[in-house]
Amino acid sequence: MSDKPRITICMGSSCFARGNEKNLAVCEKFLEDRGLKDEVDLELEASLCTGNCARGPVVIVDGRTYTNVDQGVMLDIMQKTFPG
Ligand code: FES
Repeated sequence: MSDKPRITICMGSSCFARGNEKNLAVCEKFLEDRGLKDEVDLELEASLCTGNCARGPVVIVDGRTYTNVDQGVMLDIMQKTFPG
């Protein structure tokens, strides 16, 4: 079992169109800039559609579901997940 933070980004068509394409870019840039690529368990889910599509984009971090994630929120999530 890994103790790395697990970030799941929904790549279902609804979330993708609503902004997770850009959120993924924010996430990857953050990880790259800080050399954290190996410190995270990054999952791209084909579709998390468990009734959350309308509240997307959906991002899940260690079991906590974030909805309506825009690029600013995505950055907040990354900073919260990797403080300092
Ligand atoms: S497309 Fe992401 S929750 Fe449905």
